[in-house]
Amino acid sequence: MEQVFDMACSLFDEHYRPEVFMYFHQTWPRGQLVVCSPEGRVLGFINGVLCGDGAARVMLLGVNRMMRGLGLGPRLLKEFEARAVMEGCQRITLELRASKQRLLAFYLRNGFVAEAMLPAYYSDGEDGVSMSKPIQLNI
Ligand SMILES: CC(C)(COP(=O)(O)OP(=O)(O)OC[C@H]1O[C@@H](n2cnc3c(N)ncnc32)[C@H](O)[C@@H]1OP(=O)(O)O)[C@@H](O)C(=O)NCCC(=O)NCCS
Repeated sequence: MEQVFDMACSLFDEHYRPEVFMYFHQTWPRGQLVVCSPEGRVLGFINGVLCGDGAARVMLLGVNRMMRGLGLGPRLLKEFEARAVMEGCQRITLELRASKQRLLAFYLRNGFVAEAMLPAYYSDGEDGVSMSKPIQLNI
């Protein structure tokens, strides 16, 4: 958890408190995933919460800069989706900054659709975009 916290602080514009990661873990342990190197170094992670309305929400997704473009992000998303399905969820939701066009393209490639603009969604006044992806049990 300490490594994930350090990585989140280095990757994201927002400032996070360590208690937030404890909260994620306590509310839905199976919705918190990490990919580690054989030596135990965190290479990527995803944190999510269950929203109670049939949605699982991606709060944070991050991949070590040295490991980008290798498919770790999509693999984390896929496993997250599988776990959300097991909880009875029908969709995955998330929000991102409107200025993050590469990130928007990443989520579109991974099956998400943009749903709405969220005016002044972030603490610095930047607009957000909400996205969602329908999920279902594949058996
Ligand atoms: C978005 C992110 C999780 C993608 O993970 P990944 O494992 O690199 O995913 P992929 O292997 O599918 O590659 C992503 C593609 O996006 C590109 N990319 C690189 N940096 C990116 C960034 N900061 N944001 C979006 N896309 C990025 C890569 O070049 C790659 O393009 P390619 O397929 O043409 O090579 C990763 O880039 C990341 O951690 N970004 C910073 C943190 C972030 O913004 N997280 C999401 C908000 S919570």
